Amino acid sequence: MNTQLQNIKNDSLKTLETLTAEKDIYQYKSRILGKNGSLTRLLKSLKDIPPQERPAFGKQLNTVKKEIELAVDNALTASRQAQKSLALSRDDFDPTLPGRTVPVGRKHPITLITDEILAIFTAMGFETVEGPEIELDFFNFEALNIPKDHPARDMHDTFYISDEQLLRTHTSPVQIRTMKASEPPLKIICPGKVYRCDSDVSHTPMFHQIEGLLVDEHISFSDLKGIITVFIHQIFDDQTALRFRPSFFPFTEPSAEVDIQCVICRGRGCRVCSGTGWLEILGCGMVNPKVFENVGYDTGTVTGLAFGLGVERIAMLRFGINDIRLYFENDFRFLSQF
Ligand code: DAH
Repeated sequence: MNTQLQNIKNDSLKTLETLTAEKDIYQYKSRILGKNGSLTRLLKSLKDIPPQERPAFGKQLNTVKKEIELAVDNALTASRQAQKSLALSRDDFDPTLPGRTVPVGRKHPITLITDEILAIFTAMGFETVEGPEIELDFFNFEALNIPKDHPARDMHDTFYISDEQLLRTHTSPVQIRTMKASEPPLKIICPGKVYRCDSDVSHTPMFHQIEGLLVDEHISFSDLKGIITVFIHQIFDDQTALRFRPSFFPFTEPSAEVDIQCVICRGRGCRVCSGTGWLEILGCGMVNPKVFENVGYDTGTVTGLAFGLGVERIAMLRFGINDIRLYFENDFRFLSQF
C-alpha cells in the first residue's frame, strides 16, 4: 500500500480511538474526509498516477475511506452513549417524574361545525364560494332589495368604513357577487364571518353564517323543504321534527323561518326554547324576482331557493353551550373540550 495512504489510515484510526467529544470527532473527520481533507486530496490525485496503477490504488483508497468512516461512526456512538450515561448518573435526574406532554392543536368548535355543515351540502352537490368581509352597500343591501330607507336595515346595524363600505352583516352578498359573475344554473354554499352591532349572551359583534343558493329552471319550494330537511336530519338526527313558519326577508318571496323541535327537551318545553318546544334555526325562501333583476337573470326562465344559517347557533345546540361569547374568549379550558 502507498505509504502516504498507510500513514493516513494508521493515524486516523489511532486518533479516533482517543477522541471522546462529539465536536472533536466531527472536526477530525473533516480534516481527513472533508473537502480539503488529507484522504480527499489523495483521492483527487488519482488522475495524476499512471493509468495501469489507477484501479488498484483506487480500490485501496476506497477501502481505507470506508474503514475511517466506520471508525468515525463508532467514535460518535461511543461518545453519545458516554454522554447519556453521564446524564443518567447525575443526582438531580429523577426517572420517576411524569413526562412532559406536548400540547396538541385542535380545531375550534366553530370550524368543526362549519366543516360538518359544508360536508353535508357538498354531498348534495353544492359548491363552496367565499366573498369579502368588507363589502359594498350595494352588495350587502341594495342588490338584495334592501334600499337605504328600508326598515330591514334596522336589524343589520353594522360597522361602516365609509358611506358605501361596511363590514358585511350577512353572507347573502356572496349570492349577488356569484350571480353577477356567472350564468345559471348555480348551486353554491357560502361560509364566512359577518358583523353586527350586537353583544349579549346570544349575540357577538362577529359571528359566522352559511348561505345557500340554488338557481335553475323549475326550482320550487318543495326543493327548498327537501334540502333543509335533509340538512337538519344530518346535522342533528333524523328524529328531529322541523317546521317552516311564514316570515319576511326582502330578498326572498315567499320567505320562511325554520324551527326545529327543541333538541334539549325534545319539544316538551324548557328554558332553552322558552317553553315553546321549538327553536328557530335558519331563514330561507324563494329568491325574490327583484334580486334576479338586479343581477340580470331572466325571471321568466329561472327560479331559485336560498337560505342562511348561523353557525354559532347550531354549534351551541349541538354542544349544549348557553353563552355564545365562550366561543371567542379563547379560554383554553373551554376550547380543549372539543
Ligand atoms: N341573510 C339573512 C340574515 O342574515 C339570512 C337569510 C334568510 C339568508 C333567508 C337567506 C335567506 O338566503 O333566503 O338574517
